[in-house]
Amino acid sequence: MQDILQELEHRRAEARIGGGEKRIAAQHAKGKLTARERIDLLLDEGSFEEFDMFVAHRCTDFGMQDSRPAGDGVVTGWGTINGRMVYLYSQDFTVFGGSLSETHAKKICKIMDMAMQNGAPVIGLNDSGGARIQEGVASLAGYAEVFQRNVMASGVVPQISVIMGPCAGGAVYSPAMTDFIFMVRDSSYMFVTGPDVVKTVTNEHVTAEELGGALTHTRKSSVADGAFENDVEAMAEVRRLVDFLPLSNREKPPVRPFFDDVDRVDSSLDTLIPDNSNAPYDMKELITKVADEGDFYEIQEDFAKNVITGFIRLEGQSVGVVANQPMVLAGCLDIDSSRKAARFVRFCDAFEIPILTFVDVPGFLPGTGQELGGVIKHGAKLLFAYGEATVPKVTVITRKAYGGAYDVMSSKHLRGDFNYAWPTAEIAVMGAKGATEILYRSELGNPEKIAARTAEYEDRFANPFVAAEKGFIDEVIQPRSTRRRVCRAFAALRGKTLTNPWKKHDNIPL
Ligand code: HXC
Repeated sequence: MQDILQELEHRRAEARIGGGEKRIAAQHAKGKLTARERIDLLLDEGSFEEFDMFVAHRCTDFGMQDSRPAGDGVVTGWGTINGRMVYLYSQDFTVFGGSLSETHAKKICKIMDMAMQNGAPVIGLNDSGGARIQEGVASLAGYAEVFQRNVMASGVVPQISVIMGPCAGGAVYSPAMTDFIFMVRDSSYMFVTGPDVVKTVTNEHVTAEELGGALTHTRKSSVADGAFENDVEAMAEVRRLVDFLPLSNREKPPVRPFFDDVDRVDSSLDTLIPDNSNAPYDMKELITKVADEGDFYEIQEDFAKNVITGFIRLEGQSVGVVANQPMVLAGCLDIDSSRKAARFVRFCDAFEIPILTFVDVPGFLPGTGQELGGVIKHGAKLLFAYGEATVPKVTVITRKAYGGAYDVMSSKHLRGDFNYAWPTAEIAVMGAKGATEILYRSELGNPEKIAARTAEYEDRFANPFVAAEKGFIDEVIQPRSTRRRVCRAFAALRGKTLTNPWKKHDNIPL
């Protein structure tokens, strides 16, 4: 008996060493942790339960039968994050460069199937040279099996990808279909075709970092939702994110104990809006002042900064926030910000996370770049996302809500549940100057008359009361009491039920 137990421990130790000490040292030398070290940081201590530790590949080509390391380049299993269950896989770059074989894919598929069946998120820690070259089409088939499960799991359980090394070729498409992608700065990259192929085909000279590093994907392409300094920070931040999310679409988002006063009044908000209605202010100040303990988890912080997206808690309950940012492009909506916010709204709706919208939007950004780039279709994404969302929706207009952008930003007409405005709100078809120049074109030669007309327009429309008279705004509230009002609104909506008409699926303007 003792022998058998020892044999088990021996086999386990062998599996845990992956590709061996030398390759582990090489991994460390690149500033990267190993697959198992990452799991230790991600999960609650001692909570990891591993599956398929002894699975080995079945390939016999290229002498592969002589090298069959236990685990086959990926560590899979489940564990807990602050006591809540998650499934995960962590690719082991020390074993065949973390490349994906038929059996490696089967291990990932197994935990994805279990996650969907048991209702828990899937977290993928990606660090891989892509398809296992020796296995050919069997490896491609394995990828497609994973892709199919990514699609089936979408909207059922949250899926989070962390790119912690290479992720190239078709391999990028599994993370691309998950809800969130995070990258580690300077040690991860994602691209469909690498720098060498790019050079051959287009004669462009580009480094891997420029083509698919964390800066590229968080600032330019928007493929990634966030970037972290190193593996340790990445694991800590994923833990933080998971705390905001429900385990599946069968559960409500988590409610955590909170240590903030629901009735907390913040008089500094009364002066947040500058006297000059064209002067910027930082909308993040409002978000953090409303949130429980000022805690805000921002998504896509470095992309399309004219709109802010992320998670806060109100009375301990997760809430998704979408807010125009007057400090960037005056808070205009454009192609990028519409896409960014639409995707976020749809995530929240899929997982029953209520949505809080702060509005200060002068309209859609004008220009040929926008029109030729398809702002009509991209702007419609956000309109569509808000319109189809059935979760509780609370909206606060702080200043401008002009034109179509007023409608889009979770207005009453898109089934907003509580629509509040600050007294500083300006709700109109367009700004006073533009409006008078159109309405009184014949008086344009007379600046005094135009100034009088502009003042008249401002008096009439640059306020929230016209909309409030019509019931489009439920209440004009004091800025300082925003937290209390918003908390009470969400509390009143806890029992909300709203269903859309049956359909196979919608046809959002992609
Ligand atoms: C098998 C692989 C491998 C792969 C790396 N290795 N990639 N083994 N299949 N795809 C092995 C290496 O042989 C080496 O083994 C070890 O992993 C580490 O690789 P190195 O090259 O020494 O590491 P490094 O210098 O850090 O370079 C990493 C790398 C490079 C940039 C990822 O290895 C590389 O370019 N690999 C090939 C990438 C690729 O073309 N993959 C196919 C993409 S197409 P030893 O024994 O020496 O330690 C694809 C299609 C997916 O993925 C389609 C889905 C639909």
